[in-house]
Amino acid sequence: MKGERLFRSLRLWSGVTLFVYVFSHLLNHAFGLISLQAMETALGYFAAVWRSIPGAIVLYGALLLHLSLVLWSLYRRRTLKLSRSEIVQVSMGTLIVPLGVSHVIGTSGARAFAGVDPSYGYVLLSIWSGGLKEILIQFAFVIVVWVHGCLGLHLLWRLHPTYHRWRDLAFAVALLLPVLALIAFFQRGPEIMMLAAQDANWVAALRAKTHFPSNAVAAQFFAAMNWTLFGYVVVLGGVFAARIGRDVIERRGALVRLSYPNRRAAQGPTGPSILEFSRLAGIPHASVCGGRGRCSTCRVRIGRGIDLLEAASPAEQRVLARIGAPDNVRLACQVHPQPGDYDITPLLAAGAVAQEALAQAAHHHGQEREIAVLFADIRGFTSLAEHRLPYDTVFVLNRYFRAVGEAIEAAGGHVDKFIGDGVMALFGLKGDPAAACRMALDAARRMAIAIDALNESLSGDLEVPLRIGIGLHAGVAIVGELGYGASRSLTAIGDSVNTASRLETMTKDFACELVVSDDLAQLAMIDLSTWPAHEISVRGRTTALTVRAIEDAALLPAPVKTGKTAAIAAQ
Ligand code: FES
Repeated sequence: MKGERLFRSLRLWSGVTLFVYVFSHLLNHAFGLISLQAMETALGYFAAVWRSIPGAIVLYGALLLHLSLVLWSLYRRRTLKLSRSEIVQVSMGTLIVPLGVSHVIGTSGARAFAGVDPSYGYVLLSIWSGGLKEILIQFAFVIVVWVHGCLGLHLLWRLHPTYHRWRDLAFAVALLLPVLALIAFFQRGPEIMMLAAQDANWVAALRAKTHFPSNAVAAQFFAAMNWTLFGYVVVLGGVFAARIGRDVIERRGALVRLSYPNRRAAQGPTGPSILEFSRLAGIPHASVCGGRGRCSTCRVRIGRGIDLLEAASPAEQRVLARIGAPDNVRLACQVHPQPGDYDITPLLAAGAVAQEALAQAAHHHGQEREIAVLFADIRGFTSLAEHRLPYDTVFVLNRYFRAVGEAIEAAGGHVDKFIGDGVMALFGLKGDPAAACRMALDAARRMAIAIDALNESLSGDLEVPLRIGIGLHAGVAIVGELGYGASRSLTAIGDSVNTASRLETMTKDFACELVVSDDLAQLAMIDLSTWPAHEISVRGRTTALTVRAIEDAALLPAPVKTGKTAAIAAQ
């Protein structure tokens, strides 16, 4: 895995070096918008960096390294079924050598082996005298190199929040720079051709000054270009031949068999990652970062076969920890299964985007947490609604929802849902259970106070004041995003949720406003012994549950903040 990290960083830094070179080169071209002389002056600075010995070592070292690593990664890829952006990226990359060979040999090669001075006058005259074909090749070369570089950086940075802040500016620069460079190219090229046609002495002076290659030397350049192209095709063909040979050898070994939901399956020899198996079998599988192990969108739950897998690398472990993944969840792009049978469930929809992967990632596949749960509803709401117009009922209900919703949120809770005239809220989705329990008690207190205030403001409208019943309990629940489509939301399920709901209905039996379990009070470290205790039986518990019946929740102790810690103190 260390080798893999080194491979990626070498590929990244060689690519970034080449991008910086191309950026400065196009910037140099853009000076042609001012004049040919401005281009030549800027070329002096450009050449001082890139044509110096250290600059040339860095540049050509990066070029060779990047090309070799790209060919190696082409060999290692188990499938050539790529995402759309990868197709553009790879195809642009493979076109760079055939399109750029004449430019590189005609400038850097000519300088190194024939002492030519590749000034803008020399380059523009060479290209524009080559006719439309040569002009179009150079035009395509600029576009292909630039798109390849920009797309590479975009794929690399798109998961960084900082990039999203600068993306529009980066896009504007990415669009503007090649456009300005090409406008300069199409302005200065015809200008040079006109000068050459009008003034033979000017051409002779330029040829002499730049050591313009003779026809014999130019023929050698063409031969070098053809050999380079031939060599490139042979190497590229060799990579594909090596891929085929490898696949034939591997097919003779034992097979990996993967079963996906809906009876889909993939199988083959060892080597590919689970993500590559999905792609080979045509099974849609999210992979925002393109299999680089950074986005987590490819994550899968593994059932049968999990024991056969190698442990996650530190890099994979870091990503899994970031999303709070349980032990049976792995990144499909990082796991290369051994022969055997595996049950695989991709956890994100195939069209998942980066933001979806990062947002509340832990909740996508469910998580056990110790939380506090609150249920509340209006006592006697049915008879209250019977005597009112529908509009009035909705008006009163919305005032009530607002009052209790604000109270819950002010205490630090999460309003899970409103059901009829009831409300369910969760505390402790983040943070420790003790703080969650204190928040839940504070929410109950605030709700009672808010209902008193609401009754006062609606005193002219209501025949009888609103009364609510609240149930509070704490325990382990499964927290996750449940639902379908737009109705999908974060919620909790489990016995502790059912118990909290049951305590809320018991407020009728005990004729009180709040029933709270001693479990919650003890976790919160709040003494509720002044209120009467009752033992109740709860489904799923072998022992009775002790609860407190509190007639007026507004009398609960209010929290006192000391620094960052909230403690409850008696009023
Ligand atoms: S595809 Fe991004 S982590 Fe696997």
